Amino acid sequence: MFISQEFEKYTPQDHQMWQRLYHRQMEVLHNRAASGFMDGLQALQMGPEGIPHYGQLSDRLEQVTGWRLQGVTGIVPNDVFFRLLARRQFPVTTWIRQPAQMDYLMEPDLFHDVFGHVPLLADTAYASFLEALGQLALPYMDNPLAIELLSRIYWFSVEFGLIAEDNALRIYGAGILSSPGESVFCLSPQVPRFYFNLQELFHTPYINHRMQDRYFVIESYDELYACTTRLPGLLDKELKLAQGFAHELLSYGLVIPRELLPRPVAADRE
Ligand SMILES: [Fe+2]
Repeated sequence: MFISQEFEKYTPQDHQMWQRLYHRQMEVLHNRAASGFMDGLQALQMGPEGIPHYGQLSDRLEQVTGWRLQGVTGIVPNDVFFRLLARRQFPVTTWIRQPAQMDYLMEPDLFHDVFGHVPLLADTAYASFLEALGQLALPYMDNPLAIELLSRIYWFSVEFGLIAEDNALRIYGAGILSSPGESVFCLSPQVPRFYFNLQELFHTPYINHRMQDRYFVIESYDELYACTTRLPGLLDKELKLAQGFAHELLSYGLVIPRELLPRPVAADRE
C-alpha cells in the first residue's frame, strides 16, 4: 500500500502529461482558484516543468507546515487515511494518467493528488484543520457511521469546498481544482451553494463519479480549523440520535442499514 515514488522511472511522456494538465488547469483556474492555492503553488515551487519529486516537495512543505507526502498505490482505506492525516502525512499516488484518460479517471492519479491537494497544505490553518480531522477520526475507526459523517466533512471541504474571498467565490477543493469541467460548473449561477454548516454536512451524502449537486462555502481556513473544536460534540450527538432511531426501527421489526445497527457494548464483545 505504501510505496516510494521511483522518480527516475517516469518517461518524457509522463512529464509531458503533467505539463499539459498543468497548463490546461491553470488557464481555467485564473480568477477561479483560491488565493491560498495559488500562493501554495508558488511557495512550494510547483511549476509546469514536470512531475514533482516527492522527496524534494516534502522537504519544502515540511519547512512550511510540517506536512510530508506519503506515496501510496491507490485509494487507501479510511482508517489508514485518517491515521496518515493525524501524523501530518498526505497520501499521494505515484501514477499519472495516459492521454486517453485526459478528462475522466475512475481513480485519482498523481495530478489530482499533488496538483489538487498539496498547495493548500502550505496554509497553516488549512494544514491544522486536516490534521485535526485525522485526530478526531482515530477513536471511531470501528464505527462506520462516524467515519461516514467525518468523510462528508472532508468531502465538502478538502475535495469540493468553495471559499468567499473579497466578495467573490473561489475554489479550494482539490476535486474541483484538478477538473476543468467542475471548475467552471461549480461557480456557474444555477448551482446551489450554501454556507459551511457541520449539521447540514452530516446530512448531505456525497456524490462520486459525477459533479456535485451542491457546494459549501467557507469564509476562511481559520473557520475550518475552528469547527474542529465543535465537531466532536456534534458528532457524538448525531451518533446518539442515529442509534436511538435504529433502536426504534428494530423494535418495530424493521430492517435497518448495517451502519446504523447499535454497536455492541464492550462486555458483549468478550
Ligand atoms: Fe482527493
